[in-house]
Parts: sequence; structure tokens; C-alpha cells
Amino acid sequence: MALQLGDVAPDFTAETTEGEVNFHEWLGDSWGILFSHPKDFTPVCTTELGEVARLKGEFDKRNTKVIGLSVDPVSDHHSWKEDIEETQGQALNFPLIGDPEKKIADLYGMIHPNSLESLTVRSVFIIGPDKKVKLTITYPASTGRNFQEILRVLDSLQLTAGYSVSTPVNWNDGDDVIIAPAISDADAKEKFPKGFRTLKPYLRLTPQPNK
Ligand code: BEZ
Repeated sequence: MALQLGDVAPDFTAETTEGEVNFHEWLGDSWGILFSHPKDFTPVCTTELGEVARLKGEFDKRNTKVIGLSVDPVSDHHSWKEDIEETQGQALNFPLIGDPEKKIADLYGMIHPNSLESLTVRSVFIIGPDKKVKLTITYPASTGRNFQEILRVLDSLQLTAGYSVSTPVNWNDGDDVIIAPAISDADAKEKFPKGFRTLKPYLRLTPQPNK
């Protein structure tokens, strides 16, 4: 069965562009993002890797480690890195897993044979400090991911983990958030000193608590 939200992210040891990595050990207490690329030396993947490298500071701010995967060997990744830096103006600054035997790709269900035979699709897994899967998204090979959306979801997940709130439709960092229905009004008054608006007893909005 496919990996589901709340499952423990499978552990593995793999060769990467930054040496051997034991996934759980490497994650430590951080959040993590594991994302797959169909193949080295392909155009969409090249642009994505440049963009994630450019956003590394944003992931660091969120205590989040990023790691990519492509089913080619690490020796190919090293040559591809040069193209990424040349064409995207940004050097790779996070590990890229080599998975020529597709062991990790299979472990994470990254190969969807009816979409792309024997290569991975564009999978994204966000993993919490408890090593549990908090988000999965799957894109086809032809669509480059929007990593601003990945950052947005990460912000939402981290807010939920730190406070008893969820985030409404089209929420962006700084917008009002939703107080969990399980919290009584009396407790909400204490927990959210900036106050809250009650649209319905189950729909109460409060300014983002960590701003
Ligand atoms: C790409 O990165 O452009 C790509 C890779 C595999 C299949 C299709 C597109």
C-alpha cells in the first residue's frame, strides 16, 4: 500500500552527492523534505534543483533539511551538478541521492509505471521531527513543482504543530488562522491573547500566533 500521512517515513541508507546518508540519523530532530526527480540531465529537473538550492536559506529558517533523489548513479549527479550551476546560476547545496537500483524509489512508491515506466514521478514527502509523513504530493514529470507552495504547506504544518490552529483556504504566512474546534471559547481567550472572531461556533479566526 502507498505510504500514507501519519506513517513513519521508511528509513534507508544511500549514497548521495554529500557521501553516505542514513536517512533518519541525517534528519536528526529536523523537519525533512524528500523529493524525487525522474532523471539526470533533464530540463524540468534541472530548473527545480536550482530553485531548491536558491531557497535553501528559507528551508534552514524552518529547521528543515532537503534531500533530492534521482534514479541515476551519484557519479552522474556530480556531472549534472555542473550543468545546474551553469544554467541556473546556483550551485547545488544539499544532498542528491543516487538510486540506480530504485530501492528507495520503490520503498517510497515514487515509480508510477502507468505514468512513467521505470523512472520516478515528481514525489514530495514532508517529514516531521517525529519521522512521520506529514504531506505527500505527486506531480507528473512534465510539471515543475512550485516550491513556494511547499514552503507554504511547511509553514502551515509547523503552525499546527506549535499551536492548536489550522490554516484556511489559500492561507499565506501572516494571514489569520483557524482555532481548533476542540478548544473552548474560555481556553481560546487564554491561548490567543490577540483575540478571535467567531463566524460560527466551529469557525473562529485569530491572528497568526507566532507573528
Ligand atoms: C524533465 O525533467 O524535463 C523530464 C524528465 C523526465 C520526463 C519528462 C520530463
